[in-house]
Amino acid sequence: MTVQLKINHLTKKFKDVTALDDINLELHSGEVLGYIGPNGAGKSTTIRSILGILRPSMGSVEIFGMDAFKHASKIHEKLSYVPGDVYLWPNLTGGQTIDLLLKMNNQQHTNKTDKLIKDFGLDITKKNKTYSKGNRQKVALIAAFSTEAEIYIFDEPTSGLDPLNEEVFQNHLLKLKQQGKSILLSSHILSEVEKVADRIAIIKDGQIVETGTLEDMQYLTSTLVEATTKDEPIDLKNLSGVNNLVIEKNHVSFQIDAKNLNSVISYLTTLEIIKLKTTKPTLEQIFLQYYKVSGDK
Ligand SMILES: Nc1ncnc2c1ncn2[C@@H]1O[C@H](COP(=O)(O)OP(=O)(O)OP(=O)(O)O)[C@@H](O)[C@H]1O
Ligand SMILES: [Mg+2]
Repeated sequence: MTVQLKINHLTKKFKDVTALDDINLELHSGEVLGYIGPNGAGKSTTIRSILGILRPSMGSVEIFGMDAFKHASKIHEKLSYVPGDVYLWPNLTGGQTIDLLLKMNNQQHTNKTDKLIKDFGLDITKKNKTYSKGNRQKVALIAAFSTEAEIYIFDEPTSGLDPLNEEVFQNHLLKLKQQGKSILLSSHILSEVEKVADRIAIIKDGQIVETGTLEDMQYLTSTLVEATTKDEPIDLKNLSGVNNLVIEKNHVSFQIDAKNLNSVISYLTTLEIIKLKTTKPTLEQIFLQYYKVSGDK
């Protein structure tokens, strides 16, 4: 597995605002990295640093072994990017814009471009100024997906897409992944990140608060347990890691830290389990949990 992009101790300050505070991140070939965090956390600042638009206050970004700021134009030959706010020339048609975007990146309009236009169901004869937000995003996405690159970066690319087109987006993303491309996907649509990302990085207040696979994060967070036992589980309240405990005779529900799950299940076994259901947290719940924890600081 090759490291295509490496962020080393990156700090970015805007006057007295520290937008990024000593962040480290890696993107490997064939990997989709989901990049999530609340508004103003620093996602777009990270991406603009990767694109070489911003000069780091400290630290560096290395792409294909080159410095992202110093060698931006060389790097951009193998990098494709879609911003969240897509600005398009108002008087060009969607089709003209796609071709212009491709040309600017030394790319050709190919069969792949036609297939993308069809898949996203975009009427390319209309002028950009007449497009809705979702259609403007489609123009940028079609150009980005038809570009031959090694790294693809998407900054909240699907916020305007309907569910059908979001699925088209996800399918094309997975195709890139199968081809061994590297993808950085910043998104607020957590179900989307959950579906396509191999690893997830959570950023908050300019700091990476967690990186790992969804399973890693599920391990770190609590599981919801609902059980019915033959005997009443009265000693549960004394076991460590048990939260939000509700006991109604021999029915019980509680949350348990993953590291304490084993001992709690062993205890329930001694009471004879009649029914047991464990629910892992969704990315959404993990996300909220992180925020609550860091909000308590
Ligand atoms: N050019 C700038 N000048 C001053 N402050 C900036 C500038 N760009 C970003 N910031 C600040 O840096 C912080 C991070 O902003 P950033 O746009 O990276 O957040 P984000 O995670 O992309 O948020 P969102 O989810 O809303 O897009 C914010 O506090 C923002 O106000
Ligand atoms: Mg942003």
